[in-house]
Amino acid sequence: MTTALDAIRSRTSANHFDPTHVMSREEVTELVSLATESPSSFNMQNWRFIAVTSPEAKQRLKAAAFNQPKVGDAAVTFVVVGEVGGHKHLPRLIKPMLDAGAINQAAYDGWINMANGLYEGKEQFQRDEAIRSASLASMTLMLAATGKGYASGAMIGFDPAAVSAECGLAANEVPVMLIAVGHAAPGNWPRKVRRSIDEILTIR
Ligand SMILES: Cc1cc2nc3c(=O)[nH]c(=O)nc-3n(C[C@H](O)[C@H](O)[C@H](O)COP(=O)(O)O)c2cc1C
Repeated sequence: MTTALDAIRSRTSANHFDPTHVMSREEVTELVSLATESPSSFNMQNWRFIAVTSPEAKQRLKAAAFNQPKVGDAAVTFVVVGEVGGHKHLPRLIKPMLDAGAINQAAYDGWINMANGLYEGKEQFQRDEAIRSASLASMTLMLAATGKGYASGAMIGFDPAAVSAECGLAANEVPVMLIAVGHAAPGNWPRKVRRSIDEILTIR
């Protein structure tokens, strides 16, 4: 079994994928289900995933992603979507906790009031939150893919307007990242160097 530490240490971005590999609906669903274990502010889960698997849809997405070959070759490319204004769904999303008695009415009301106080009327902050949540889910998805023996490759190399149009995104939805997932083909780069810890860590 791949441990979390193994997955963190062994994940690399792949450019080359086996174009003959097809992923089942169950496998795609499991990856997204694992990604949704990610944390999000107030548990607002302001993300959505579009799994592009058909050859035709892959070609259209590839065209919107500056023709990056991995979009056409990987078994699936996920469009990870962040939702601006996700706090508005909190009353519905945390109601099951109230119903189950996990929180009381005061905690429920406080949860929603605090979120509204933080996000209401702050469009940029809501957008930041959409990017944050979708990015955390993206990382979890990539680590889950590693754990399942797949290669992955995150991409920001795409035209957001074209991806939004292709995926029919709503006005409050942001295409945060594309993630190609599948079996690696030969020719991928080895692990890349990282900045030294001295350069990036401050302990106070
Ligand atoms: C937000 C983000 C966007 C990226 N966009 C692209 C991309 O469009 N095309 C690409 O080939 N790689 C892309 N990458 C991959 C990075 O180049 C890669 O993560 C980085 O070089 C570190 O390598 P590693 O992931 O193998 O550790 C992206 C990575 C991230 C996190």
